[in-house]
Amino acid sequence: MSAAGVQIVRTTKELRSIVAAWRRDGHGVALVPTMGALHAGHLSLAQEALKRSSRVIMSIFVNPTQFSADEDLDSYPRTFEDDVDKFASAGGHLIWAPTPSEMYPEGFATRIVPEGAANGLETDVRPHFFGGVATVCCKLFTQTLPDFAIFGEKDYQQLSVMRQMVRDLDLPLEIVGCPTVREADGLAMSSRNAYLSNDERKAAVAIYTAITDVAQQIELGADIDGASQSARQALQAAGFGQIDYVAVRDAESLEAVTSVTDRPLRVLAAAWLGKTRLIDNVAAGPGSSR
Ligand code: PAF
Repeated sequence: MSAAGVQIVRTTKELRSIVAAWRRDGHGVALVPTMGALHAGHLSLAQEALKRSSRVIMSIFVNPTQFSADEDLDSYPRTFEDDVDKFASAGGHLIWAPTPSEMYPEGFATRIVPEGAANGLETDVRPHFFGGVATVCCKLFTQTLPDFAIFGEKDYQQLSVMRQMVRDLDLPLEIVGCPTVREADGLAMSSRNAYLSNDERKAAVAIYTAITDVAQQIELGADIDGASQSARQALQAAGFGQIDYVAVRDAESLEAVTSVTDRPLRVLAAAWLGKTRLIDNVAAGPGSSR
């Protein structure tokens, strides 16, 4: 138990016994899966969880299986004490913080391989990513047995993959998506924003501006490819280096679209600013509001 009254749990055995006691007492349970380094975006997920359930678990686990060898696993920000205080102030109940060996004990050899919504976009450049995310989230769900798991729309493809996995595997919980929380200039909040230099931070908002422009252009009747190409040029002009993608997809299936129909769309982008990879997305098409 931390000073702030939040329970910090590091073994599955203890976690299961606490959740079972909550259930016996009639509580509902919501889970907010995170890798820590909490910001206002994560806290908005905790607030949504508290609206839905009388007990809220936040998992804090920097999941090694969703990083490739050349990615930022070692340098990923770790601010555990501060995270505990923030979660306690938000009114949360339990932090599930397993060690890597508790999550992946000796002999661990099972992996979920998502397709469908996982195809393309992130998978084109990070082929290991959604297998790692789906496997750890499936374990987080079966460890905590929540009624709800709350994810941010900031990682829109991840949210779609979670919905698909829960549907496909008949997992008995509901995935809830929450709107992206943005800085005053529009930059999506992300733990990785901490990597940006002052100059990069000023330039970073261009990714939001670029995808918002795509959404507005296609609503005004512009061609999807042309609008996406203009967004790439705008990112380059703002100082972005490698652009992994600027894409317009069906908002539900995440299938590629070439023209506007009556279905909601999503504009998604991922690009590098110096050594930092930023991703963002906005709604477009019928019924969208930004
Ligand atoms: O979005 C994240 O922080 C991670 O991908 C998640 C969902 C906690 C799985 O490790």
